[in-house]
Amino acid sequence: MNNFVSMKTMTQAEISHLIKRTDWFASSKDADQSTGKKRFVTNLFYEPSTRTKLSFEVAEKRLGFEVIDFQVDHSSVVKGESVYDTAKTIASIGAEAVVIRHPQENAVQELAEQLDIPVINAGDGAGEHPTQSLLDLYTMYKEFRNFKDLNVLIAGDIVHSRVARSNAYALRTLGANVSFASKPEWQDHSLDFPYVDLDDAIETADVVMLLRIQSERHQDAENDGKDTYLQQYGLTVEREGRMKKEAIIMHPAPVNRNVEIADELVECERSRIFKQMEYGVYARMAVLDHLLNWEEEQQYGDHYQTL
Ligand code: CP
Repeated sequence: MNNFVSMKTMTQAEISHLIKRTDWFASSKDADQSTGKKRFVTNLFYEPSTRTKLSFEVAEKRLGFEVIDFQVDHSSVVKGESVYDTAKTIASIGAEAVVIRHPQENAVQELAEQLDIPVINAGDGAGEHPTQSLLDLYTMYKEFRNFKDLNVLIAGDIVHSRVARSNAYALRTLGANVSFASKPEWQDHSLDFPYVDLDDAIETADVVMLLRIQSERHQDAENDGKDTYLQQYGLTVEREGRMKKEAIIMHPAPVNRNVEIADELVECERSRIFKQMEYGVYARMAVLDHLLNWEEEQQYGDHYQTL
C-alpha cells in the first residue's frame, strides 16, 4: 500500500491490519515517537475542516513529524497553481507525504497516481473519506469486536456523503450488513446497498450512523427542509427509545443539532460521536505510520493479520 485514498479497493487483510494498528496506538503508552531526525509532512486542505485537519496534525506530531504549515488561501493556489504543481512543490521542498482534502471527486486519486510520495485522502468531494472510515470502523470494533453480520444503518444525505461511501465499501468487505435510509432526493442508486425505512430499521440496527446534511453541496440549499427533517428523517428521542439495548449512535460530525439528531442525544450514553473524534488521532497515526514507517512496523510482527 503506497497511498491511502479509497476503502473500495482495500482488502479485508489491509483494513483489519489498520484497525489493529489503530488499537495499538490507542492502547500503547509508548505510542508517541521521535523520528530522531527532521522529517516533514504537509496537510493540504482545499475545503474547510476542523477535526480531520487537527487530528492529522496531532497524529503527525505524535509520530515525530514536523508539519509544514500550508494554507490554501495564502498560497500560490490563489494565483492558479494546480493541485499537482502545488503538491509536487511540497514534495520537492522535502515533505514525505501529502494529506489532501479537495472538493473535486477523484482529485486525490489522480494526484496519488502522479506523485511519488504517499498521498492520503482527507476527503474528495462526495467521493471518499477513508481515514474517517477507519476511525469509524475502529469505533465499531471497540464496541462489538466483530463485523460479521453487524447491522449498520447509515441515515441521511447519502448522495453527497463521502463518509457513507467509504464506510459502506469497507463494512461490506468486513462482512457487515449495511443499509441506507434517506429522503428520496438524497438517495444514490449507483451504490449497490439497500434503502430501508428508518422507522423499521432503527429497531434492528447495531449501529445507527447519522450523516450531516451537506448544504454546501446542494444547488438549492434553502429548500433542504431542515425545519422538518428531524421528525421525518432524523434521530428523535422517540426513535432512539426503540433502538436495541446495546446499539450505538455515530455521526462523523460536524453535527447539525436538532436536524440529523436531537440535541439531547448528541452526548447521550449510547452516542460515540466524541469517541470517534478521539479515535481519529489513533487511526491517522496508524495510516501515517503504515505508509511512512513500514519497515519499522514490520518489526511488530503483526502485519496483515485479520481481526
Ligand atoms: N468528519 C469530518 O471530516 O470533519 P471535518 O470536516 O471537521 O474535518
